[in-house]
Amino acid sequence: MKFFIDTANIEEIKEINSWGILSGVTTNPSLIAKNGGVFEDVVEEITSIVDGPISAEVISTDLENILKEARALSKISKNIVVKIPIIEDGLKAVSILSKEGIKTNVTLVFSLSQALLAANAGATYVSPFMGRLDDIGKSGIEVVKDIQNAFLKYDYDTQIIAASIRHTSHVELVAKAGADIATIPYKIFKDMIKHDLTDKGLEKFLEDFKNVKTKGDLK
Ligand code: E4P
Repeated sequence: MKFFIDTANIEEIKEINSWGILSGVTTNPSLIAKNGGVFEDVVEEITSIVDGPISAEVISTDLENILKEARALSKISKNIVVKIPIIEDGLKAVSILSKEGIKTNVTLVFSLSQALLAANAGATYVSPFMGRLDDIGKSGIEVVKDIQNAFLKYDYDTQIIAASIRHTSHVELVAKAGADIATIPYKIFKDMIKHDLTDKGLEKFLEDFKNVKTKGDLK
């Protein structure tokens, strides 16, 4: 399973990218607003940091303007993926853009029905929002599993980006379900690498090694 980072914060992207584990970035209008700066400049800077798909979202809701924004965003870099909400004009736009070779990420997906529509429109990615489903008492992972099973059964090329990830268990659950990608907030990456037994084990190894004689560059 590939990892994308779900943020528009340049420092967070640089730090997690330095781990060598990032395949892409997702942003949304709220994350862009939280980060500040000029939208197009922020997106362009992100494309210069991570060499992979970078999702930038349209804010129009009518076909003509969704297409206008999508085409403008796609000109920023070859790695831009245009994020489009699953609404009627959004779906029409995905179908048109996919024929133009513009990659799309259909967002705000909360059901298998929505994911199937997006896949049939030629979406490159669909983003089911796990955390927000859990928040309303539904099971985010069940929706991801349903989408995964249907996409496998019907051999769709559309990839699943498990989104709205709130904790490390979400990451592990979607990996077990077989999602293609998890888009993960900065804090969850930091949580993923931590384990108390790792800290304790490392402390003991370093303590035990203190009196060992070594040659050369080893401490
Ligand atoms: C997905 O691409 C979205 O940016 C994101 O995962 C939304 O997550 P949230 O529910 O934590 O806002």
